[in-house]
Amino acid sequence: MKIAIGADHAGYRLKDVIIPFIESLGHQVTDYGCSCADSVDYPDYALQVCQQVVSGDADKGILICGTGIGMSIAANKVPGIRCALVHDLFSAKATREHNDTNVLALGERVIGPGVAEEIVKIWLETEFSQGVRHQNRINKVQSIEDRFTVHP
Ligand code: RB5
Repeated sequence: MKIAIGADHAGYRLKDVIIPFIESLGHQVTDYGCSCADSVDYPDYALQVCQQVVSGDADKGILICGTGIGMSIAANKVPGIRCALVHDLFSAKATREHNDTNVLALGERVIGPGVAEEIVKIWLETEFSQGVRHQNRINKVQSIEDRFTVHP
């Protein structure tokens, strides 16, 4: 898969650990920054990564900030994005099976690199269940988004 990844100044260290790990799993990674501890704004990076996902240039996106919260909030503002903030293995699997999430958010200040790698591996390897009840719920989420999306 093609994976777009981005982080702010509180997440770039974990990003730099996660990138070679994802590559070692056989995926292609594009890094949208940032790459140092200078203070930046997480929505700028969330937007870049999510644009790659909704355009189809990336299959999935991964976003990292201090808590993962800001990144997940920003990502879920982008139409077509279903982003989950995940810090445990059960949720990593469940959010692919049930929510068909296309973006994963992580908090560098919350979990260590070992857990983050396991979460990323499970999230990338788990398929959507295709369950009718789950698809219906995703459709309902989409209909909420459609209701508030202004079309020019
Ligand atoms: C940066 O200090 C921090 O606020 C940010 O990385 C993130 O945790 C926001 O949700």
